[in-house]
Amino acid sequence: MKTVADCTILPLPKIPDDRGNLSFIEGGNHIPFEIQRTYWIYDVPGGETRGGHAYKELQEFFVALSGSFDVVLDDGVTRKVVSLNRSYFGLYVPNMIWRHLENFATNSVCLILASLPYNQEDYIRDYEMYRKENLR
Ligand code: TYD
Repeated sequence: MKTVADCTILPLPKIPDDRGNLSFIEGGNHIPFEIQRTYWIYDVPGGETRGGHAYKELQEFFVALSGSFDVVLDDGVTRKVVSLNRSYFGLYVPNMIWRHLENFATNSVCLILASLPYNQEDYIRDYEMYRKENLR
């Protein structure tokens, strides 16, 4: 069973500079998987949520490139809310964790690094099905 305890906040390199700070991520180095896809969520209207599903195989890493939002994690037993608001920290979420994003501040940008290409078949969109599968 995957649990919310398997979701971890990881520090990222930060190169401070008077000209502006710089951070970076290497797949398989700063995060525990090779990156096969990148997408980002932006222009989120106030009060909206994104996500609301789990993935059978996909691992993801979330970074608040700008602004702030909450990642709500649920393993079928325990719920945990992680607030992201710095671009030199990210949240690792393994496969088989139910999640949604909420509480976006205006102009927030959420970067997501993903371990696999987009595959609709990998989604579990029914919470009870997810819960049964994860508790098995
Ligand atoms: P979806 O993952 O369902 O959004 P949310 O996480 O908020 O539930 O994706 C929304 C739409 O975008 C859906 O039609 C599929 C498409 N999409 C892609 O084509 N490629 C991608 O990498 C992602 C993440 C989504």
